[in-house]
Amino acid sequence: METGIVESFGNGTVLITGSTGFLGKMLTEKLLRSCQVDSIAILVRSKKGLSASQRVTEIYKQALFDRLRCEKPDFIESIRIIDGHLGESSMGLSSSDREWLIDNVNFIFHCAATIKFNEPLDLASKINVQGTGNVLALASQMKNLKGFVHVSTAYSHCPRSEIKEEFYDVPITAKELKNVFVDEESTNKILKDWPNTYTFTKAVTENMIQTNGNHLPISIFRPSIIGCTKSEPEPGWLDNMNGPTGLVTGVMVGFLRTVPNIGSNITDIIPADYTVNALISVMWDTVNRHKQSNGVNKVPKIYNYVSCVESPLTWGRYIREMHDQYYVAPPLQSMWYGFYILYTNFMVGSILRFFLHRIPGAFMDLLLILCGKSPKMLRMYAKTEKMIDLLYEFSTRQWTFDNGNTRELWSSLSKDDREMFRFSLEEFDWKPYIKSYYYGIRRHVLHEDLSNVEKASSKNQMLLWLHQMFMVLIVYILLQLFWACIKFVF
Ligand SMILES: NC(=O)c1ccc[n+]([C@@H]2O[C@H](COP(=O)([O-])OP(=O)(O)OC[C@H]3O[C@@H](n4cnc5c(N)ncnc54)[C@H](OP(=O)(O)O)[C@@H]3O)[C@@H](O)[C@H]2O)c1
Repeated sequence: METGIVESFGNGTVLITGSTGFLGKMLTEKLLRSCQVDSIAILVRSKKGLSASQRVTEIYKQALFDRLRCEKPDFIESIRIIDGHLGESSMGLSSSDREWLIDNVNFIFHCAATIKFNEPLDLASKINVQGTGNVLALASQMKNLKGFVHVSTAYSHCPRSEIKEEFYDVPITAKELKNVFVDEESTNKILKDWPNTYTFTKAVTENMIQTNGNHLPISIFRPSIIGCTKSEPEPGWLDNMNGPTGLVTGVMVGFLRTVPNIGSNITDIIPADYTVNALISVMWDTVNRHKQSNGVNKVPKIYNYVSCVESPLTWGRYIREMHDQYYVAPPLQSMWYGFYILYTNFMVGSILRFFLHRIPGAFMDLLLILCGKSPKMLRMYAKTEKMIDLLYEFSTRQWTFDNGNTRELWSSLSKDDREMFRFSLEEFDWKPYIKSYYYGIRRHVLHEDLSNVEKASSKNQMLLWLHQMFMVLIVYILLQLFWACIKFVF
């Protein structure tokens, strides 16, 4: 009989890359809280003048680890910090760390990646493709490796409209990409149909795993858009403004008034804690699969982790229900009343941006200058709109996904494992989730707690009045212009 998920990690050593990121932090927390791991080695680079260990100390002070701190106060003792950088040759590892990893690691979760859509291709390739190549090379030397899960993305093959749990061809191999000269001009030619360097390098990496990794007990996990947590370690936890979170936050504070979107399209959001549970379950399945195959090499299995198959959520519903919460508890730091107009056409978007972002932005910059401050609004709009353009593809297109392997995995879990590692999105109730998502943004992104709701609501009421007065003024000006045109023509 197969062992359960908790026991399958029994006294094992886990290596996590990307443990300082959104997904990696939650994975570390859940493994330490719920699985019987002996130790977790985390690959961390020094950054912004802080050493790897200084960074880690700060991270474990975060609220995400409150529950773990309570349940296992000495959890830090199970963590071994490995100073390293994915993109460097041999990952910048010291020889003692390398040896220790080779001798001890049993499970690898490779989460690290640059997820910037507009990362220069050479850097994205260095971190995402060659970096994964470095982890694969290290894994090949490990003496007791039982499982390796590579975290990709459900959109790695986004030029296709139907994405199955399969490998697909890529226009260039990892080896060719490494040797090709990349500049801004050649990037578009190399990317071909891919909208950004992130999804492209993820696709090339999957291809590399297919060709170089199948001697390892390896799987590929492809999550779609990771939202806040559903319930663990607390509902509504998140720590970034990626993807839809950024758009919603911008609208909530009255900064963004127009965003690209087709309300009737499906958005593929998945709860962060469910994603971690699915990822851990994929590791369990990978270990078992390899055990059962008696070491015979198999094609790496792919797991699409998406919500659209079992519980599709439309953008329209997501945005509407977020806005319902806005009426109840608007943020205090709003700069204007929160409203939005959706567009799908670039030209229409540019016109809307001119009227709803640029003109008010210029007006506010003028006020700032008159108050003796430096202007910033137009600069902020230019920067934010550039980011929004990078998301255009993902907020106006929809994909058909197959997730048969993931559903099969869910059916193979025991009752206890289903309780502890819930990830099935069958009949998922979006309403409370979207509500906690809104309050999660308010608390963890905007850093506002509920004590200010009364004050924020009165401020919002005043902003609504101002907003309505402006609307009346604009309609009046437009009518006057229209009337002047009519008089001029006739
Ligand atoms: N978030 C999503 O919605 C989503 C959806 C689908 C798939 N995924 C995948 O999930 C994984 C984790 O994403 P995330 O949202 O957690 O991203 P994230 O918050 O940006 O975290 C990325 C992690 O990778 C590390 N990293 C980046 N470059 C590195 C390098 N050169 N050397 C060592 N470490 C490096 C970062 O370390 P530093 O702290 O040092 O920068 C960080 O720990 C990625 O593989 C991503 O493709 C994410």
